[in-house]
Amino acid sequence: MSIQETDTQVIITHPNHSDSVVKILKYGATIYSWVSKGSEQLWLSSATKLDGSKPVRGGIPLVFPVFGKNTADEYLKDLPQHGFARNSTWEFLGQTRQNPPTVQFALSPEQANPDLIKLWPMDFTLILTVSLHKESLTTKIEVKNTSETKEMKFNWLFHTYLRVEDIEDTFVSNLAGMTTYDQLLQITYDDKHPVVTFHEEVDKIYKEVPEDRIIQVVRKGVPIHTLKRSNLPDAVVWNPWIEKSSGMGDFEPKDGYLQMVCVEPGHVHDLVKLAPGETWNASQKLFNGELKYQAI
Ligand code: BG6
Repeated sequence: MSIQETDTQVIITHPNHSDSVVKILKYGATIYSWVSKGSEQLWLSSATKLDGSKPVRGGIPLVFPVFGKNTADEYLKDLPQHGFARNSTWEFLGQTRQNPPTVQFALSPEQANPDLIKLWPMDFTLILTVSLHKESLTTKIEVKNTSETKEMKFNWLFHTYLRVEDIEDTFVSNLAGMTTYDQLLQITYDDKHPVVTFHEEVDKIYKEVPEDRIIQVVRKGVPIHTLKRSNLPDAVVWNPWIEKSSGMGDFEPKDGYLQMVCVEPGHVHDLVKLAPGETWNASQKLFNGELKYQAI
């Protein structure tokens, strides 16, 4: 059987490739492990809670309806950092396709975290579709504004923690020439560096990155992760480095920042504005592609 469901999680094993497995917690509909061709592709903190008491530190947490903190929007301003999708238990809708094995999860106000949803009085349905291919993983989100009268404004982001062997000889490519907001320096500039390297904390939002920019994580000239985005114009690149990771109680081992990088496709620079009854779709595809350099 390629789909196993328990009270707390869903595990998909590829029917023709048993060394491709994805594990999804119902809490947050968080993918916390993706093994492709026998190798784990995602980073997961050894101290993370998988019991629904805290968002997962690692894997692919879902960020909705706000990225970071928003102090300006009348509805979003009361929500905690990164919203409530990652701290709500989603409903498992079941398998929708045999091959590639595909499953869906849903979240609406009825299932959402009761303490948080009361801070954001909107009518919506989210549907997450996860497809496991032989050598790739696709996550697709559909957001529907089910209100008959009220516009809905939100951010979406796949907070993807990618596993790397050694961040110090790894870089992220194909963002050269893009406008970036450095969240640490709080400045915006055009990043002319050919690649993003990691020798200290990095927390940058690359804005309006054209869809044909295929972001790659490259180590010693070999692409280890390739990321395709659809309808997700922004990409956050984050590594907490020493000080920030030591301050996060759920981040272990403490030198785990050497084995991870977050490349997070999202719609975070602006809010998506959805009229009553409208639907918005976006997706990310993770795979292991050919090396491709896209310069300024
Ligand atoms: C990243 C942000 O997306 O998430 C960082 O750019 C933030 O600023 C990081 O520190 C982790 O956030 P959290 O809420 O999971 O600790």
